[in-house]
Amino acid sequence: MTLSPLDSKTIIEPFRIRSVEPIQFTDMEERKRLLKEARWNPFLLKAEDVLIDLLTDSGTGAMSSRQWSAMIESDESYAGSSSYYKFDSAVRDITGFRHVIPTHQGRAAENILFSLMVSAGQSVIPNNTHFDTTRAHVEHKGGEARDLLIAEGYRPQTDHPFKGNMDTDKLESTIRDVGADRIPVIMLTVTNNSGGGQPVSMANIREVSRIARKYGIPFFLDACRFAENCWFIKTREPGFEHSSPIEIARELFSYADGCTMSAKKDGMSNIGGFLALNDDDMARQCRSLSILTEGFPTYGGMAGYDMEAVAAGLHEALDEGYLRYRIRSTAYLGEKLTDAGIAIIRPTGGHAVYIDAREMLPHIPSLQYPAWSLTNALYLTGGIRAVEIGSVMFGLQPDGTEREAPMELVRLAIPRRVYTQSHIDYLAEVVIHTYRQREHLCGYRITDAPSVLRHFSAELEPLEGDQ
Ligand code: F0G
Repeated sequence: MTLSPLDSKTIIEPFRIRSVEPIQFTDMEERKRLLKEARWNPFLLKAEDVLIDLLTDSGTGAMSSRQWSAMIESDESYAGSSSYYKFDSAVRDITGFRHVIPTHQGRAAENILFSLMVSAGQSVIPNNTHFDTTRAHVEHKGGEARDLLIAEGYRPQTDHPFKGNMDTDKLESTIRDVGADRIPVIMLTVTNNSGGGQPVSMANIREVSRIARKYGIPFFLDACRFAENCWFIKTREPGFEHSSPIEIARELFSYADGCTMSAKKDGMSNIGGFLALNDDDMARQCRSLSILTEGFPTYGGMAGYDMEAVAAGLHEALDEGYLRYRIRSTAYLGEKLTDAGIAIIRPTGGHAVYIDAREMLPHIPSLQYPAWSLTNALYLTGGIRAVEIGSVMFGLQPDGTEREAPMELVRLAIPRRVYTQSHIDYLAEVVIHTYRQREHLCGYRITDAPSVLRHFSAELEPLEGDQ
């Protein structure tokens, strides 16, 4: 009798660790002082004062020895470096898009795309759910960002295998109401980060593509977490169980005209991104703009060694052993919290577990920011840094008014290949302990905030003293 690591109950990390980074233990009194000094905004904490940092899975992953060795061999030529050609061929191998324009990160690709596509006061951009930077870029250029997620996507407790799907009836009615000429691009975010890291099915991607083509509208993917999305397709969508993640990825990209990508996620890199597309004329315009804002089109804001890291990382993200471990370990955390009675977005997403703070803290109204309150409580209780995805992040409207966000979530984003199962066990203990004290948590008010992407630098204070 043999027991394969694939069948065992214990999730083993499919790597061993050769370089370690110490983390700091602080006590509750210290953390209270530190958070107060950070104006009750975890973004303003020093990372060294955080024990387990789940602020984001973006750029925070551990690289492999293969990536590090590729980095040593990088070519730092300004123009035409061999590192660029490796990067270009890795992206084309997976996406099939003809033109690959490197950018320093995902939002830089968004900036280039929307600068060319959005007409102020005219354009409407449909998406399943815009990520905050995506929305901000559309609005900054005077366009309107419309989220057309299926209804199940807004119901945290409802199980559905593809809660990131776009409502294609709403998409067609939006096109008819607004007029196809006012929709320069249709976007689809895979996986849907702001909606819980939920995947989009291949059937939905195909249907969105069909509608886009019917009306002659370009269709772009926000592909940050494409590999995780492919794993969900493989394990949840009939007909894909025998396909490899790379085969699924190739099919997924084949339905689109281009994509924006933050390589800080499924590029397994600490920095980097790209814009990839098929249209020759559009690519020419994107390259010109990239020279203005990012750099020469064969490095686009990245060092040669960054492009090497991404070229290797994109394929590592599609490795079956890695994806099985990645998605299983996020689900493991989700199961621990669910078993303790904590409401999370179900099923568990790819890169993160999202706690439903509206459900956990019904005594805190949305505009007193329950998800922010819970985020701070997790830091105070156990040195965990998470991120609010609620009314601080999304409540401020372009006209300056405030409206409650559709959901009040706390995202526990898991960096790639960084934490082990014992870190996750500790994390679950902290969340469960906080949950048991939940009636003592209070609301917050914003004392100072910028008008764009305010959550990054807003200053707040608890409504009942120091929590
Ligand atoms: N699109 C999605 C779906 C994202 O999740 C992000 C970043 C971006 C675009 C922008 O990419 O950061 O490289 O400029 N998400 C990070 C997060 C910041 O924490 O979820 P970027």
